[in-house]
Amino acid sequence: MTNSGLAQINGQRLMASIEQLGQIGIDVNGGVTRLSLSNEELIARQFIIRQMEDAGLHVRQDEAGNLIGRLEGEASDAGAIATGSHIDTVIQAGIFDGALGVLGGIEALRTIREQEIKHFRPLEVICFTDEEGVRFGAGYFGSRAMTGQWNESWLELTDSEGTTLKEAMEYATLDPYGAAFASRSRESIKAYVELHIEQGRVLEEQDAPVGIATAIYGHSWLEVTVRGRADHAGTTPMKLRQDPLTAAAAQLLAIEQIAVEHGGVATIGTLRMAPGAINVIPGEIVFTVDMRHEAAEKLHSMQLAITTELTAIAQQRGLSVSFRTIDSAQPVRSSPSIVDAIAESCKEVGLPGTYMVCGAGHDAVAMNDLTEMGLILVRSRDGISHHPLEWSSPEDCEAGANVLLQTLIKLANELN
Ligand code: GLV
Ligand code: MN
Ligand code: MN
Repeated sequence: MTNSGLAQINGQRLMASIEQLGQIGIDVNGGVTRLSLSNEELIARQFIIRQMEDAGLHVRQDEAGNLIGRLEGEASDAGAIATGSHIDTVIQAGIFDGALGVLGGIEALRTIREQEIKHFRPLEVICFTDEEGVRFGAGYFGSRAMTGQWNESWLELTDSEGTTLKEAMEYATLDPYGAAFASRSRESIKAYVELHIEQGRVLEEQDAPVGIATAIYGHSWLEVTVRGRADHAGTTPMKLRQDPLTAAAAQLLAIEQIAVEHGGVATIGTLRMAPGAINVIPGEIVFTVDMRHEAAEKLHSMQLAITTELTAIAQQRGLSVSFRTIDSAQPVRSSPSIVDAIAESCKEVGLPGTYMVCGAGHDAVAMNDLTEMGLILVRSRDGISHHPLEWSSPEDCEAGANVLLQTLIKLANELN
């Protein structure tokens, strides 16, 4: 490191790499779609490998497809300080979600190497497989595998085209039955710090470029199936119908109400009806509910209230309803010592560092099972995310990556 002051990442280089990655999977409307293990995402992985190599990192892919770039420290057998995120996206996403964490992490490690900044512990930047969970209905595959939570039954999950996760992994030349071996020991990773865009409005409202997450919401994803009877649209009197769609209409409003009452959030992100013809009363409705809360007991009681009320609504109409849990994760708390390290780094970089709870899910949630975790958030314009209009300014991205850099340096030099 030079003696002229605080080390700084190269903001232009970071932004250029985010924009380059953002070209992979982009459509004419500016939406980026890189579903996990799709052709687009596999191309993006090659880009990340090149970025890691250019940064002078030792690159490997683990059994779950996680890409790991490592920079050895003075003590190569000490637990590493890890950072990272994901490069898979939702459908029609923006260019920052996940990308900032992976490319900001690479940039931070590159800066440490280039400026020969002393660090005792090894540093790792990890590009995790399938954080979003959009393609197969459950996410954090890579981070869950790394933390010993891999579940082989996931291999049978299918995407909208009927491709199983097992087939998608084989297509990506990954051994589906090897993923469990991606699990790491507690000794091998001392701490995990993720950099991510906020994807909400808190920082903008507080006029703050960078936030410090003290906790991350838990989630529960449910698939709800309402069964009635398909019938003729013209000849079936209204009072004789068993229409699951009108029941679902009442159910969706009930979900909204229950989420508000519990101080949580709930979203119906998908809904499909069968058989789906203009002149046929539907026979079956299937929709998903994404419920989130910062408190585990509130998340649980919100889910219970929702399933109880949905059952009552279906029964009132003589219909049946069933529930399937697709995925869930408990709310997690950031490590107080990492929160302090991030706060101290914010101060050094000249930023206030706003404490907040994060509503979006991140690989940090899964990593919390293995090691101490922290999360640095960067202001999102208008709070928009999971949308082509998602945007964080170059200045804010640079500020966030500089906070990450200082945090990594601190943690990598802590010996206990
Ligand atoms: C991931 O972006 C999520 O919060 O669903
Ligand atoms: Mn996302
Ligand atoms: Mn993300």
